[in-house]
Amino acid sequence: MSVLAIDAGTTGVTALVVTPDGAIVARGYQEFPQHFPQPGWVEHSPEEIWAATLAATHQAVASYDGPLTALGITNQRETVLLWDRETLGSPRRAIVWQDRRTTAICDRLREAGHEPRVTEVTGLRLDPYFSATKLAWIAEHEPHTWSLVQAGRYAIGTVESYLVARMTRGVWHVTDVSNACRTLLLDLAAGDWSDEMCGLFGVPRDALPELVPNWGAPMVTDPRTFLGLELPIAGLAGDQQSALFGQTCFEAGDAKCTYGTGSFVLTNTGSTIERSDAGLLSTAAWRSPAGELTYALEGAIFVTGAAVQWLRDGLQIVGSAAETDAIASTVPDSGDVVFVPALTGLGAPYWDPKARGTIVGITRGTTRAHLIRATLEAIAFEVRDVLETMPALSSLRVDGGAAANDLLCQLQADQLGVTVTRPKQVETTGLGAAFLAGLGTGVWSSTDDLRATWSVDREFAPAASRDAADAAYSRWRDAVERSRGWAQA
Ligand code: G3P
Repeated sequence: MSVLAIDAGTTGVTALVVTPDGAIVARGYQEFPQHFPQPGWVEHSPEEIWAATLAATHQAVASYDGPLTALGITNQRETVLLWDRETLGSPRRAIVWQDRRTTAICDRLREAGHEPRVTEVTGLRLDPYFSATKLAWIAEHEPHTWSLVQAGRYAIGTVESYLVARMTRGVWHVTDVSNACRTLLLDLAAGDWSDEMCGLFGVPRDALPELVPNWGAPMVTDPRTFLGLELPIAGLAGDQQSALFGQTCFEAGDAKCTYGTGSFVLTNTGSTIERSDAGLLSTAAWRSPAGELTYALEGAIFVTGAAVQWLRDGLQIVGSAAETDAIASTVPDSGDVVFVPALTGLGAPYWDPKARGTIVGITRGTTRAHLIRATLEAIAFEVRDVLETMPALSSLRVDGGAAANDLLCQLQADQLGVTVTRPKQVETTGLGAAFLAGLGTGVWSSTDDLRATWSVDREFAPAASRDAADAAYSRWRDAVERSRGWAQA
């Protein structure tokens, strides 16, 4: 009765085997290459995502010898792919959510006055983050490829959609509302593709996937292509909505923050679409097989874990993300260094695609420990930026890889002035996909069953004085202003 979950993230794919008590009993992980063809551009090879998915799944399944009931898939959102419906090969690399190449297209549409209507229909804004302008860019720059999209030969999809196509040998071309609502092409209230938005961005509706519920949909993996496994693909969700589900945030007002490549704060708003005028996104959380839609308000921060990855791979001043806790704890503070990790522009609440990474306050006494501490502080500041614009919370549930970092959790509690709660299971993104698939196949019969599997590991109460926390935060806001508008294009 165990469930297999695949979390196809931005930097790698994780596969988990989850038992009915919510324990993770086997896992696999495979990183895949990031392609940066020009400054501000980020691409992934679909074949490399697929190979990493097979490798991670193989590792997890090889170390587990019980039966599997179902498969759940969760994924990096907004990243958009094309593939040939017959061969499943892709004519070009995926354009990743972090890619900023469509800044000019967004400016053009904004200047033409389209943004208010786009926001009204989709809950989003005109920012290169979302999928539709990436598709408009392909149409403009790669007309031959686009003509084959228009001719019906190439399918369009987000990552979960592509993986389902690969796992079913092209039988299914599907997506779910939590992914579809990030494309700029979904009518959020209707929970269906919007002809008006498809027209505005020039995307043929027929090239888009069919919408299925987040749990209990009918696809099945083909064992010839998927490691000999024949499993119902009974759960699908974008990674942030999946983490909301995995944190058992089922009621309106429940909130979580996931520290991944970026960090994403989501508050469940029930059946109501809440609108923000402070830079938050209105988004779909999930849709039940009966058709009930649940919504969320989201603060999307683009670069948090990716900044730590840059310390590791770009600057090479840490060997692993796990080391940052101990190294940053060797200094009492960042020595007045502030790092704004706007490496791919700024998301919520600033929405500035032209912002770039900025480090201020370096002196001759600055060491790598100060810079590493400044990076952890930046993550806490970025999350505070978003929570300042949300209804006040009494505590915040955190998850994702960096939630294991005690110093970060403490800095976060100090900045927010509320308790930060870390559950025993911080891999809630994958867990959420397992929950969805298990709910769709009877492994769990209700959300109450799922709640019973959730428990607290540690609570971090605010320890710093409000004055000290606010003074540091005001330095951060100052540094953010210095990072803005830097990129040329
Ligand atoms: O919206 C982008 C998000 O889905 C990426 O998540 O976990 O890969 O940082 P992650």
